[in-house]
Amino acid sequence: MKVLVIGAGNMGLTYAEGMSKSKLLKKRNIMVLDKSEEKMEELSQISHFDAFSELGDCVPKADIIFIAVKPYHAETVFKAIKGFVKPEQIIISIMAGVTISTIKDITGLSKVIRAMPNLPAQIGKGLTSYVTSPEVSRIEMLTVESLLDTTGKSVRVSNENLIDASTGISGSGPAYVFYFMQSMMEAALQMGFSKTDSTVLVSQTFTGAVELFNQSNLSPNSWMEKVASKGGTTRAALDSMEDNNVNELIKEAAFAAFSRAVELGKEN
Ligand SMILES: NC(=O)c1ccc[n+]([C@@H]2O[C@H](COP(=O)([O-])OP(=O)(O)OC[C@H]3O[C@@H](n4cnc5c(N)ncnc54)[C@H](OP(=O)(O)O)[C@@H]3O)[C@@H](O)[C@H]2O)c1
Repeated sequence: MKVLVIGAGNMGLTYAEGMSKSKLLKKRNIMVLDKSEEKMEELSQISHFDAFSELGDCVPKADIIFIAVKPYHAETVFKAIKGFVKPEQIIISIMAGVTISTIKDITGLSKVIRAMPNLPAQIGKGLTSYVTSPEVSRIEMLTVESLLDTTGKSVRVSNENLIDASTGISGSGPAYVFYFMQSMMEAALQMGFSKTDSTVLVSQTFTGAVELFNQSNLSPNSWMEKVASKGGTTRAALDSMEDNNVNELIKEAAFAAFSRAVELGKEN
């Protein structure tokens, strides 16, 4: 199997590296193309991928074409590859807001996967949600899933609306965590901790809590109940969050990202 990644930016290279490290594919079976010849020249010196700058040299050789350019470059790329594609090829797009029907209409391909990754993919801890067009067989779907899993975990969803929804949860989600971390670090600084200590206090608290959660079958609510005793310190903090409706505000934020993903899809 040969995979071609179009767009050697943050995400394109993240997936190329992930696939390469996983040993699912032989290194020479990962092809990468970017429009910048200089970048490709550089990449061919430092990486183990086959680097290309001409579509005609790599698109016909690929079984799977992975598109990782910005959404506003999508149409140009689709039109450019149209002359080189074959019906049996599978196309995976990670571009926000670019729908399966757009991809089918412009490329003429029918085996389409639309996926939504998130930032921790860069360290192999990502979450990619994906949806397949009906023309993708089960075996092909499992193959694609194993490729997506090389950057973390994947979740298959049943329709494209849930891809937009996952943008509001896992796609934009790392920023919500950073927001919470920032607030806690600011509180720690105001309490008198140094910047270094504030960072360690908060970072290790997040890591520890998430690990605890992952290693148990308990819900976040159950963990909160375990930690918060009546009249205690944690209860005081949780009561303050409840009084200020933080739970509702977080949900509202996630829905704002979801709505924006839908809007961006319409604009595209
Ligand atoms: N970063 C994330 O966390 C994240 C999360 C979810 C989804 N995504 C999606 O992932 C996609 C890629 O994002 P990114 O952050 O990796 O972008 P990026 O770093 O800008 O990478 C895109 C690369 O594609 C190149 N390119 C543009 N037009 C091209 C063409 N016609 N042919 C070949 N290469 C071309 C760009 O070159 P130039 O720089 O010269 O234009 C750039 O090197 C986006 O569509 C985004 O919606 C990203």
